[in-house]
Amino acid sequence: MKKLAVALLVVVALCPAVFAEDIALPEPEKTGGIGVVDAVAARQSARDFVDGEVTMQQLSNLLWVAGGVNREDGKLTFATAMNTQDMIIYAFTKTAVYRYNPQGHTVTVIAEGDYRKLTGGQAFVAKALVDLLYIQDTSKWPEGGRATPSEILNCGFAHAGLSMQNVYLYAASLGWGARTRMNFDREGLTKLLGLTDKHNFTLMQCFGPKP
Ligand SMILES: Cc1cc2nc3c(=O)[nH]c(=O)nc-3n(C[C@H](O)[C@H](O)[C@H](O)COP(=O)(O)O)c2cc1C
Repeated sequence: MKKLAVALLVVVALCPAVFAEDIALPEPEKTGGIGVVDAVAARQSARDFVDGEVTMQQLSNLLWVAGGVNREDGKLTFATAMNTQDMIIYAFTKTAVYRYNPQGHTVTVIAEGDYRKLTGGQAFVAKALVDLLYIQDTSKWPEGGRATPSEILNCGFAHAGLSMQNVYLYAASLGWGARTRMNFDREGLTKLLGLTDKHNFTLMQCFGPKP
């Protein structure tokens, strides 16, 4: 036991960056907002956003809505086929790029700095408070399972869509904007995020206050 503790201390001392990168998000605010039917009635894609710096509370609320754990059994705010939970949600902000870890409700800092432009060429993308990028991790699917490669890919888009509708309704509830988008700098993002051939690009979504 003593030896294990010493070994752990050595690892922590040698790799401080690894242990420093995970940030616990504040508890998400799970009540409030307008009624769901009112939010559906107000849902639309915004055409422009106000640039700004997201607070950790805003990020926590958004990521929980987009794909956090909403039950004691660890299942999420959106459905996934066979509960594969294969969607990695990245949050691009003015100051950093984060990967969301729904189990534990933490974020991992992938890069410091403003990389919002990489998620799309349209001018408003670089201004949205948060750009969410939805990358499917196909390694979450069982090898040799029933699903064909194209069915797995289709499920990735369905999962992204289900999560993004949560975000659309949340934005409507706040009186803020959201916009689903395709077309991003795949090469730049692959390098920045360290993606492999097991990762599929699906869609992204801008979120934040509107002018
Ligand atoms: C799969 C998908 C891809 C989209 N891609 C883009 C895009 O690349 N750029 C853009 O400005 N809007 C994009 N949109 C937003 C649509 O243009 C928008 O949803 C459509 O005009 C209908 O408007 P509404 O969402 O306000 O009802 C996309 C929407 C979806 C569902």
